[in-house]
Amino acid sequence: MKIVSVVGARPNFVKLAPVAHALSTRAGVRHIVVHTGQHYDAVMSDSFFVDLAIPAPDYNLEVGSGPHGKQTAAVLERFEQLCDELRPDWVLVYGDVNSTVAAALAAVKLGVKVAHVEAGLRSRDRTMPEEHNRIVTDHLADLLLIPSRDAGENLQREGIEPARIAFVGNVMIDSLVYLLPKARAAGAATQLGVSPNGYILVTLHRPSNVDEQGSLAEALAILGDVSRELPLVWPMHPRTRANIDRFGLWRLIDAKRLIALPPQGYLETLGLIKDATLVITDSGGIQEETTALGVPCLTMRENTERPVTVDEGTNVLVGRKRALVRRCVEEILVGGGKRGRVPELWDGHASERIANHLTSWLAQRVESVYA
Ligand code: UD1
Repeated sequence: MKIVSVVGARPNFVKLAPVAHALSTRAGVRHIVVHTGQHYDAVMSDSFFVDLAIPAPDYNLEVGSGPHGKQTAAVLERFEQLCDELRPDWVLVYGDVNSTVAAALAAVKLGVKVAHVEAGLRSRDRTMPEEHNRIVTDHLADLLLIPSRDAGENLQREGIEPARIAFVGNVMIDSLVYLLPKARAAGAATQLGVSPNGYILVTLHRPSNVDEQGSLAEALAILGDVSRELPLVWPMHPRTRANIDRFGLWRLIDAKRLIALPPQGYLETLGLIKDATLVITDSGGIQEETTALGVPCLTMRENTERPVTVDEGTNVLVGRKRALVRRCVEEILVGGGKRGRVPELWDGHASERIANHLTSWLAQRVESVYA
């Protein structure tokens, strides 16, 4: 069986790693990795392949950065050609980035089966570019591999038949479980000279927070506030840093209370999450990782496609509400904040369940169609 994984951006690589590992143990499976080149910097891409021990991609489509249409179209065009040459049994796409939807569309039009890892998530926020990618990819895919039960409910509400849906758990947590000891040993916080449990970890990169001057200034003013309680450690996405420069907003945070870092590798990020007193973020993956690690998380968004992190985990949606953030930070500092539990099947074995489904699904499907 020939399986092609298509990945393009940071969070995709974290999901690919355990799946690549699980597939490598299956007899008769040839797994081919295609990197679209959506992320291309050493820190945004290469370091993840090294940290997560992912074999080097077999192909790189080198699409690079650009407006959504151009980037999506470049993946669509280049992957169509490659997929037609490779003719795999499955194309596996991950998450919700532009590369995900483009690869899924190219494959289904060629009559190649598509499986979507992390299917069914919905923020119901149509201003979010990823929401369109999620909806379109799910409706194109043959097999929808969901991380939580709410995702299955979303899909069924949209008319997707249950036979296409498989609850496998959260593959991002497989990477976390596997690499936590290594992240611990790397001791990222100590390396930076901050004491474990003595800082707030910040990550922000969503267009809704960082692309407009007004919203970015609001976010920075809030961070300036909370930095008076604890210093901030902030690995910065290139777009966020460029926008703070462009809008001249550095003055909103006392430089003595901020450690601004370039994008960090997977092990460093995991270590910094684990040792933080709390995390302020707008990342999807970090909402999940804080829940898995029991670290308090304030999400600077009005909604989340990962409600299980709020209902069961340590996540609180705070948007850019200054008073609410201040109150939540105080509660965390005084009482440790919201206690959570680890959601069902976030157990480090999702990738094995994915490999099981991929290797058995085609046969079952043929049986059920002809039954
Ligand atoms: C993309 C995903 C987002 C994901 C994020 C993780 C989409 C729509 N968005 O957003 O869901 O959470 O990746 O980081 O697919 N850049 C570099 N080096 C790189 C890549 C990008 O400097 O290696 C800069 C470029 O200026 C580029 C900008 O970052 O224009 C944005 O990159 P892009 O891939 O378009 O989107 P992200 O914001 O990273």
